This record gives sequence, structure tokens and C-alpha cells, in this order.
Amino acid sequence: MFLFISLQQFLYIWIALAIVLFPLQLFVSAPYGRHTKTTWGPMLSNQLGWIIMEAWALVTFVIVYLLFFNTNQYALFFGALYIIHYINRSFIFPLRTKTKGKQMPLLIASFALIFNSINAACLAFFLSEVSNYPVGYIFKWNFLLGFFLFFAGAFINIKSDSILINLRKPGETDYKIPQGFLFRYISCPNHFGEIVEWFGFMLMVWNLAGVAFLVWTASNLLPRALHHHKWYQQHFPNYPKERKAVLPFSL
Ligand SMILES: NC(=O)c1ccc[n+]([C@@H]2O[C@H](COP(=O)([O-])OP(=O)(O)OC[C@H]3O[C@@H](n4cnc5c(N)ncnc54)[C@H](OP(=O)(O)O)[C@@H]3O)[C@@H](O)[C@H]2O)c1
Repeated sequence: MFLFISLQQFLYIWIALAIVLFPLQLFVSAPYGRHTKTTWGPMLSNQLGWIIMEAWALVTFVIVYLLFFNTNQYALFFGALYIIHYINRSFIFPLRTKTKGKQMPLLIASFALIFNSINAACLAFFLSEVSNYPVGYIFKWNFLLGFFLFFAGAFINIKSDSILINLRKPGETDYKIPQGFLFRYISCPNHFGEIVEWFGFMLMVWNLAGVAFLVWTASNLLPRALHHHKWYQQHFPNYPKERKAVLPFSL
């Protein structure tokens, strides 16, 4: 017997899954970047892994949006923001990283590809088929606040990623203590910025797919930032004591 559920019900289950996986991720650090492990099966190049797992989300989003095409100007605007973010994440970010010779498990890239694609498909479907933003939506509080948070978060994320990437000279692959900007307060402003960005996006799009995207992002990035923070403290005896992991002055 088949069990038919609506997209809305699926999204509730999907959000619940992210919440269930959250405590697990506090104990097991996702094995890529500084936490990479060779015990997770076949490996592939770090840069290629990033491109594959993120570009697939971009392709999925565009295909689903075009299938249910919506000419509502707000839906188009939100779609454009998503596409711009993912062009950076799929191509510009990985090609800027200095990770020559580094690898990640194929399994991690595959998991990320699946979760990215499900989130992308749900968002695209909600924007193209379900949402119908009215004239004057631009003046709603959630649009205005979300717009501000989205761009502030994107700025923090991109600037922090750039500072991290520029810590290495060409050919280097080791780690240094990042300084300046929000690194004064937290170890992972790139993760903080990304969470703020998708919180803003959720406010703007105001639908369940936006909530799912934010919950999955936060449940991935909060544990990752905590693992990074602990890693810094273990590897650098002179690591700034007052610096928090991901939320300034608190966590
Ligand atoms: N939406 C989501 O669910 C999601 C999930 C994951 C990541 N992301 C985003 O993707 C981006 C990358 O994530 P990430 O977790 O891989 O970031 P990360 O660990 O901070 O690494 C970012 C880049 O900087 C390098 N780097 C980091 N710290 C360094 C240091 N102290 N010294 C020298 N180089 C350093 C890394 O090299 P190595 O690779 O060699 O460590 C990598 O190339 C971030 O913007 C993040 O927000 C989003």
C-alpha cells in the first residue's frame, strides 16, 4: 500500500529530520575541510566535491522553477537571489579556495547533494507554484526585515570566506588564526552570516520551504562551527580566549 502525503506534510517530516540529526552532528563532525577523514569510503577532490554538490542544487532549482513557471515579480526576485547565492557557492567559492591536493569523502558530497536538491526543489516549487505575493508586498515588515538580513548575512558570509581564503598564500594548505572583522568575536562568522542570510530569506519568502531551508542550514552549520571552534582551541595554544564559536557574546 502506498502512502501519499502532501508536500506540506513532507516538509514537516523533512524539518523534523533536520532537528533529529542536529544532536548527532554535535558529536560527529562532518568529515570535510579540516575534519576530513579517509575512513568514509572513496574520496574525491575537495573543489570538485563542492562544485558537484552545490551546482546540482542550482540546476534542480532552475528546472523545478521553470516547470511550474511563475511570473510574479516577487517570486522571480527571490528566485534570482537564490540563483546568485548558488552561483557563488557552486563555482566562485570553490574555485577561489586554496585546497590543492585536499579531498573529501564521496559519501559526504552525495549526502549534501541530496539534501541540497530536496531543499532546492521544495523552494522552487513553493515560489513557482504555491506562492502568490500581492502588489505592495515590498512594504510588509517581513519583506523589509528579511531583505535587510539577507543582504547583511550574505555580506558577512562572503567577506568572512574571503578573509579565510586569503589566509593562505598560493600553494599553502595549512591553517592560521583568522583576525579582524567579526573574527574578533566568533570563530566562524562565515557560518553565522550564512544562517542570518537564510533567516532573512525565510522572512522574505514567508513559506514552509523557506523554514525548512533555514532549519537544515542551521542544523548543519551550528554544529560545524562548534567543531571548528574546538579545533582552533586544540590546535592553537594562543587562540583568543574571549572568542565565541558562532554567536557573538553567547555561543
Ligand atoms: N547552507 C549550508 O547548509 C552550508 C553547509 C556547509 C557550508 N556552507 C557554506 O559554505 C562555505 C564553506 O563552508 P566550510 O564549513 O567549508 O567553511 P570553512 O571550514 O570555514 O572553510 C572555508 C575555506 O577557508 C579555508 N579556511 C578555513 N579556515 C581557515 C584557516 N584558519 N586558515 C586557513 N584557511 C582556512 C578552508 O580550507 P579547508 O577546506 O582546507 O579547511 C576553506 O577553503 C561557508 O560560507 C558556509 O557558510 C553552507
